[in-house]
Amino acid sequence: MKTLWKMVNEIAQPKEVMGSGKILALMNQKGGVGKTTMAFNMAHALSRQGKKVLCLDMDPQFNFSSMFGINPNDKSHIHHLLINSIKELKPLHSAVLLDEVIQRTESGIDVLPAGQELSGFELTVAGINSPRQLILKKFIEKNNLRAMYDFIVIDGPPTLGLLVVNILCAVDGVLYPFVPDSFSQQGLKNIQQVLEDIREMEICPVPVNLGYIPNLFDSRRKQVREDFEKMEVELGSGKIFTPFTNRVQFTKAQANRKSVFDFEAKDFKEIQDQFTVMAQSVEQELLS
Ligand SMILES: Nc1ncnc2c1ncn2[C@@H]1O[C@H](COP(=O)(O)OP(=O)(O)OP(=O)(O)O)[C@@H](O)[C@H]1O
Ligand SMILES: [Mg+2]
Repeated sequence: MKTLWKMVNEIAQPKEVMGSGKILALMNQKGGVGKTTMAFNMAHALSRQGKKVLCLDMDPQFNFSSMFGINPNDKSHIHHLLINSIKELKPLHSAVLLDEVIQRTESGIDVLPAGQELSGFELTVAGINSPRQLILKKFIEKNNLRAMYDFIVIDGPPTLGLLVVNILCAVDGVLYPFVPDSFSQQGLKNIQQVLEDIREMEICPVPVNLGYIPNLFDSRRKQVREDFEKMEVELGSGKIFTPFTNRVQFTKAQANRKSVFDFEAKDFKEIQDQFTVMAQSVEQELLS
């Protein structure tokens, strides 16, 4: 019997796109599995390969923005732009333009930050008549963001609500970081169920599965090895990247608000190579 994973891997079809830019998101309903860490370093890996990259923070915790040293407190961010893009919510519109919200960083990567107000997104749009699932997709289309960037990297929140549905409807592909344990596995299954619902509703094409990223993998532990082996079977035909172990380099990079590529020390080489391989794989999957 086919697993749900296998079915989702099979039904995912490349999307028709306006403009050449590709959009990917890092998703898992489980918190703390490395979504933001992977999104941040993937964005830098793509940028190092000469791509123009926009990092779009869709998590009200705004960790992705913080990693770039951006503190969106009291400033406008993606929530305000999304609300401004909904005609029916005119009384809630604020006088802010996309150009004023996009932050240009030293790394050459642009950032569209998030802020706490994003946690009220679902409630704010609850009463509108236009399709609530497609707000982000339409915002990206209206602002022609695909034409402005080679890649848009979205960091997703550890939830399953309307923000997640909006992300899944807006992207071409998804990378799934996970820690090999049952909670993380459940988080992945729940996202797959949302994808299945999207497919059944036929509101947009289902994004391509760009692969699973095992993280915080401790191969010395028997339980971890066993859980990982079980998950390998469950994940079916999806690509599984080389696992990341618990590395102090991530902590060091994060503390300095830098990517792993900003360090020349030899002990960063292995994880730099892992991100480079993943970036090449994503490019190949989305550009072919
Ligand atoms: N391989 C790793 N080695 C060491 N530390 C790591 C590793 N991966 C992630 N971390 C650390 O674990 C913490 C959680 O990671 P991260 O914030 O990327 O997870 P997340 O899935 O985005 O969490 P949330 O669901 O809350 O958004 C961070 O402090 C990060 O630096
Ligand atoms: Mg995060």
